[in-house]
Amino acid sequence: MDDVSTVTLKDDYLRVRGQSLEICSTLAPEDTVVQSMPDVSPSKWHLAHVTWFFERMVLEEFSPGYRRYNDDFDFLFNSYYYSVGQMHARPRRGLLSRPTLAEVIAYRSHVDAAMQSLLETVDEQPVLERVILGLNHEQQHQELMLTDIKHVFSCNPLQPAVRSDLRIPRAAHVPAYSFIEGVRGIHEVGAAGLGFAFDNETPRHETLLHEHRIGQRLVTNAEFREFVKDGGYADSTLWLSDGWAVINERGWNRPLYWSEDLQSEFTLGGQRDIDAHAPVTHVSYYEADAFARWAGARLPSEFEWELAASERPPEGNLMESRYWQPVAGGDSTQFFGDVWEWTSSAYAPYPGFVPLAGSLGEYNGKFMCNQMTVRGGSCVTAADHIRASYRSFFYPDARWQFLGMRLAKDGAT
Ligand SMILES: [Fe+2]
Repeated sequence: MDDVSTVTLKDDYLRVRGQSLEICSTLAPEDTVVQSMPDVSPSKWHLAHVTWFFERMVLEEFSPGYRRYNDDFDFLFNSYYYSVGQMHARPRRGLLSRPTLAEVIAYRSHVDAAMQSLLETVDEQPVLERVILGLNHEQQHQELMLTDIKHVFSCNPLQPAVRSDLRIPRAAHVPAYSFIEGVRGIHEVGAAGLGFAFDNETPRHETLLHEHRIGQRLVTNAEFREFVKDGGYADSTLWLSDGWAVINERGWNRPLYWSEDLQSEFTLGGQRDIDAHAPVTHVSYYEADAFARWAGARLPSEFEWELAASERPPEGNLMESRYWQPVAGGDSTQFFGDVWEWTSSAYAPYPGFVPLAGSLGEYNGKFMCNQMTVRGGSCVTAADHIRASYRSFFYPDARWQFLGMRLAKDGAT
């Protein structure tokens, strides 16, 4: 990582911490307590957990004399760091009516004051790098705050909007689906050492790509609707065995949040007509894979995606665009933003991968089993939080995140 200055970091700290509160600014205290399924965490829990991360991983390690705000919070707001201690069960986070939201906000202020004091006096790189990790961690949780509260509100028969001040996209055309020739041969992938990267993006290494083509844009709602109308969910030949079992057990026959008539969908701005040309979202890996098979194509591998994306600036419909919903891209290639793109790659360690030392070794490495890699960020990913080498990961049946797809094909055009 490059050297970082404390001046910039103090500004970044205030900006990122303030953004978390801004995301929750339209919520009532009651909204911030609900947990609608085990994958969803209450907004109040997110606000507290990211604060615990700074307290436990930065202040307690690097700020002599720091006094914990409340010893009980170490159990309540630890997520999955067993090397730090035991934690409250994830599916039971919605039972925490106490501490109240006001107490959590006070906890944030206590930690913010201590962090600002630390940043006034410290300039050692290991400390600053830990703070940067904490900020990137909080940005990951900002995305989860939005996708989680979307799920919570979708379960309310009143179908309330999380926000009424979001931008409404103008209708845009998209070109017919076509493919770009992919990079072939032996190439380097992974974080290049310029700026922050998570440990799971390293080490940079060589990989072999075979002749292939990659889609020039994301798959749209209109295209996915054709798959549904064509009986895609009823044709076992299109599905992976696990996927066929999941859609039948759970009765899935369309993307999460689509209405039964396939005409409207629940968004962070409330119920809206489906934009035919916007990227399809809230589909599982199984649905993305089945769609690709139906379309006579396949999903790209994560390295096919990365080499195509790394030729382009990391710009697109991201959190700052304020749509907080995928939008029709016109002639954009849509590699960044809108939806995280399912790849055909299992989430696995790169050759020579070494997790971070100590408790932070639990951040990424222990999840490298049974999940799939997704790339590119979404419409609720912060613009300074995405890059071509960024790897996120989800279980193949997950669909409450903004998850979608582009296609790929073997061979030349
Ligand atoms: Fe976390």
